[in-house]
Amino acid sequence: MKHFLKLADYSEKELLELLNLADQLKFEQKHHIPHPHLAGKTLGMIFQKSSTRTRVSFEVGMYQLGGAALFLSPRDLQIGRGEPVQDTARVLGRYLDGIMIRTFDQSEVEALAEYSGIPVINGLTDYAHPCQVLADLMTIREHKGAFKGLKLAFIGDGNNMANSLIVGGITMGMQVAVACPGGYQPDAAVMAWAREHGDFLCTESVAEAAGNADVLYTDVWASMGQEDEAEKRRAAFAGYQINADVMAAAKPDAMVLHCLPAHREEEITAAVFEAHAAEIFDEAENRLHAQKAILVKLLKQA
Ligand code: CP
Ligand code: NVA
Repeated sequence: MKHFLKLADYSEKELLELLNLADQLKFEQKHHIPHPHLAGKTLGMIFQKSSTRTRVSFEVGMYQLGGAALFLSPRDLQIGRGEPVQDTARVLGRYLDGIMIRTFDQSEVEALAEYSGIPVINGLTDYAHPCQVLADLMTIREHKGAFKGLKLAFIGDGNNMANSLIVGGITMGMQVAVACPGGYQPDAAVMAWAREHGDFLCTESVAEAAGNADVLYTDVWASMGQEDEAEKRRAAFAGYQINADVMAAAKPDAMVLHCLPAHREEEITAAVFEAHAAEIFDEAENRLHAQKAILVKLLKQA
């Protein structure tokens, strides 16, 4: 059974297959060519955290593929009243064809995959955001044509986005550099893997990471679940902002990506955000197409 829990489970070839399928599905949607690969199939979507893009793009994606999606809030599910994830998984696996889950611990996503008997998709955990990075890779390829030879620089918190970008970038053959303050580095095992498998750098110097970059990426300084640390983090991350100085260090034609939601004048200035809005909203749109590719790959055979 194939799941989509983290990018490290996928080879370069498999990711390219997903990206090619995503491009094809985007073309079909733009040209109003029906593509009902998942007629009669139902996706359950469990959200333990807020979402705009993930929720809407998965729901619309299932609809466009001829299937249906159920939004399952923990406030309404018995899981919110303590029913174990193992039991929830075994019940949902009897009704649904696939589950998308956004939650805190990666272990919960893995338990769902182990017990449900149906494909499980990680819609964000504290550890990883693989759906976002598949859309990011699709956007980079659309704008830059290829991956090899590109430098991807992530500026900010070594969080779920950083972890998945490192794996996605290295797998596709990009040079990846991360700039973050001490104490906020990405996952140690992810960094060790990246050093072993490609050209990876983690530094406290924004200038070093951004130097000659083709793609600049940032994310919020306080992720969902870290709201209490927001003030402390604002102090720690001062200086880790994508602004005009950082743009000047990167290549003149560097693109800027942000998974959104964005906090202007924190991790990115309003000026840089607006100058690169076309890329950033292509990226948001591509969540739809990339996730439809994941859904077709995982659910069509199920
Ligand atoms: N980027 C992203 O996952 O957005 P949402 O939190 O709105 O789903
Ligand atoms: N790092 C952010 C990403 C939001 C899409 C968070 O986890 O809140």
